[in-house]
Amino acid sequence: MRVSILGCGHVGLVTGACLAEIGHEIMCTDNDVTKMNILERGGLPIYEPGLSTVVDRNLRAQRLSFTSDLGETVRFADVIFICVGTPPLRNGDADLTAMDAAAKLIVTEARTSKLVIEKSTVPAQTGQRLKQALATYARHSISQFSFRVASNPEFLREGTAVFDFLHPERIVIGVEDEAAETQLRKIYLPILEQRFPCPLHDSICPQTPAPVLVVTDISSSELIKHACNTFLALKISYANLIADICEKKGANVDQVIEAMGLDPRIGSGFLRPGLGFGGFCLPKDIQAFTRMAERAGVDVALLHAIEGINRHRVESFMQKLHQALWVVKHKHVAVLGLSFKPDTDDIRFAPALELIRQILDAGGEVRAYDPQAMEKAKVELPTVKFCESAYEAAQEAEALIVATEWEEFRRLDWALIRETMSRPLILDGRNFLQADAMRALGFEYYGVGRPLEEPAREAIS
Ligand code: UDX
Repeated sequence: MRVSILGCGHVGLVTGACLAEIGHEIMCTDNDVTKMNILERGGLPIYEPGLSTVVDRNLRAQRLSFTSDLGETVRFADVIFICVGTPPLRNGDADLTAMDAAAKLIVTEARTSKLVIEKSTVPAQTGQRLKQALATYARHSISQFSFRVASNPEFLREGTAVFDFLHPERIVIGVEDEAAETQLRKIYLPILEQRFPCPLHDSICPQTPAPVLVVTDISSSELIKHACNTFLALKISYANLIADICEKKGANVDQVIEAMGLDPRIGSGFLRPGLGFGGFCLPKDIQAFTRMAERAGVDVALLHAIEGINRHRVESFMQKLHQALWVVKHKHVAVLGLSFKPDTDDIRFAPALELIRQILDAGGEVRAYDPQAMEKAKVELPTVKFCESAYEAAQEAEALIVATEWEEFRRLDWALIRETMSRPLILDGRNFLQADAMRALGFEYYGVGRPLEEPAREAIS
């Protein structure tokens, strides 16, 4: 099928590239000129593992194209995915300006009837508003074409987005008419049947079960996305609350959470305590969800608590730094990891950046290293020294903070790092390193919700 994609952010790019990969003809556009310049020259504006392979081979196969011609993209296909950004407004509401602009663009440029699919994360009822907007613009421009709307939220995670798109557990579609359901089923058929050579493995992925197709009305589909992200945020904040209690009571959060996760009703995912959740989805989605529920007259105390706990993570971690260093001013602090999570260069709402800002505010000097996110972070943090390696960042440091759990940090020569630091002090904001191994190497080690010293087990028993 021919499919058009409006918006070349994380969701739009992965959707476009992966739909091309499973055999469709895709044209993508964005009104961000800088982004389109990169894409039209064969580059990628984001780092996402596996994406460049998929983009390159589909560009070569001429199933995928990028153009800055918005009108051409609208006219290219009768099915259009809207993947534009819905950033938070000052009051927490989702800013739907780009959705509205997309509706106007579609009506103005269309020469046939269209199925318009919202893929961007939006508050419930946006589909209805989108339908009204399309109808209003069509009336004003005396368009003789019809514009139907469907919802198809995306659940991909940055860092594993290509895998998530091609091997989802579920595909949710919110539709109002049978034709829309048929079109969406046709688009996703290869994924629903898991019948395509997987680009990540160069063969059919044998272990991946077929996803469940969930067909709902449009508002329910929109709500599913928000409900899922909020629940993930709830689990993280709950794990952080437990970590704080563990710290006060001398318990070990690793053990508590491992045992909790063994209960299938709870599950082990998203219970890692630390600096809290960041990124461009969880923090903004929970805000938009809260605002929407509040306006609907629902008690949102639980949602406020999730956000409140997360807001204080960096602050309470800073207290640990103050506690350990006593005075932070003029002290050199090494920060490993800047992106909001590993395997991405995305620094939006990254706890690491907030932490660095607070260290700088306290008069500390920061030397930072991240495998992918330094170019983006340089723009935000001009006074930070960005280093070529973790070793360079740690040299002469009086404290080293692990702010993002990049796998390469596990393989560092920590004995060497210990030698080069002024004071061998580690504050592990992601409970990523083995506390006892670090202490055995001679580090003073503090994690989150972990006991200050491993109790001597023999003595206890
Ligand atoms: C999220 C959802 O997972 C995804 O389904 C949705 O489509 C988009 O939003 P993403 O933003 O890529 O994906 O990040 P995610 O993996 O959910 O992590 C979000 C944040 O939570 C990160 O900062 C991560 O470090 C943090 N996190 C995650 C924890 O602090 N503890 C955990 O146990 C898990």
